[in-house]
Amino acid sequence: MLTSEPLFKLQNVRKIYPMGEERIVALDDVSLEFHKGKIYCLLGTSGSGKSTLLNMIAGLEKPTKGSILFKGKPLEKLNETQLALYRQRYVGFVFQSYNLMPTLTALENVTLPLTFRRVPKKIRNRKAQEMLDAVGLSNRGKHKPSELSGGQQQRVSIARAFVNNPEVVFADEPTGNLDTRTTLEMMDLITGIARKYNQTLVIVTHDLEIADYADQIIRIKDGGVDGIEDKVALKTTTVETAEEESIAVKTDETEFR
Ligand SMILES: Nc1ncnc2c1ncn2[C@@H]1O[C@H](COP(=O)(O)OP(=O)(O)OP(=O)(O)O)[C@@H](O)[C@H]1O
Ligand SMILES: [Mg+2]
Repeated sequence: MLTSEPLFKLQNVRKIYPMGEERIVALDDVSLEFHKGKIYCLLGTSGSGKSTLLNMIAGLEKPTKGSILFKGKPLEKLNETQLALYRQRYVGFVFQSYNLMPTLTALENVTLPLTFRRVPKKIRNRKAQEMLDAVGLSNRGKHKPSELSGGQQQRVSIARAFVNNPEVVFADEPTGNLDTRTTLEMMDLITGIARKYNQTLVIVTHDLEIADYADQIIRIKDGGVDGIEDKVALKTTTVETAEEESIAVKTDETEFR
């Protein structure tokens, strides 16, 4: 699987923000690959360009120069409607600030990505409840976000990110507002689901303990790649086993896709 086409291939990506007279080079000549079923961490200090990089792979921003290929197709050539479809179909997000809809219940928040994909109500409620069960919130479906703890709100947002069975989940400082114990619980949860369904995970952090969950750590410094640490030698067999298992799971749950 390591010789297969990468899920994402970034070629000489640059991002420049014009600020009046000044030009801020947020990313400079970044070339990277992300493969299916692997867990990546973008590690770097504040202002190094991690979120800018994540937002471009997630189709939220376009590069000033260079190319971002998703399954061989350049994302930068898509228009806004096509990018929205790309995000709905293939992408899940987990944010530091949870980004839940305050007027909706936990269950309704989790059903949102399915609503956008026009999944019938009965099926989306069942899928959302299954995801709430998976994140340990079976009996909190009727709660509004303000009636949940921070850790519980992040569980809801994790359920929402994965409910569509996306190919890739992007998490920008997903545990930035949580205590150490809850942080590790969240990381176990996110990486556990991603491994089970052979999904790609890209996590932004400045925390080495979180980076330790990744198969590959990509160090970002001053808008560039400062080093890549591959833990693949240890984990290749695990990944391949996980892939076989996930095929079995998917066959049982074809409706999940
Ligand atoms: N919309 C924008 N307009 C202008 N400059 C921006 C914009 N977004 C980011 N920048 C600049 O680009 C650089 C990289 O920002 P980015 O948000 O990617 O950093 P980061 O690594 O995610 O930092 P943090 O850990 O603090 O979230 C910073 O210098 C920032 O000021
Ligand atoms: Mg950031």
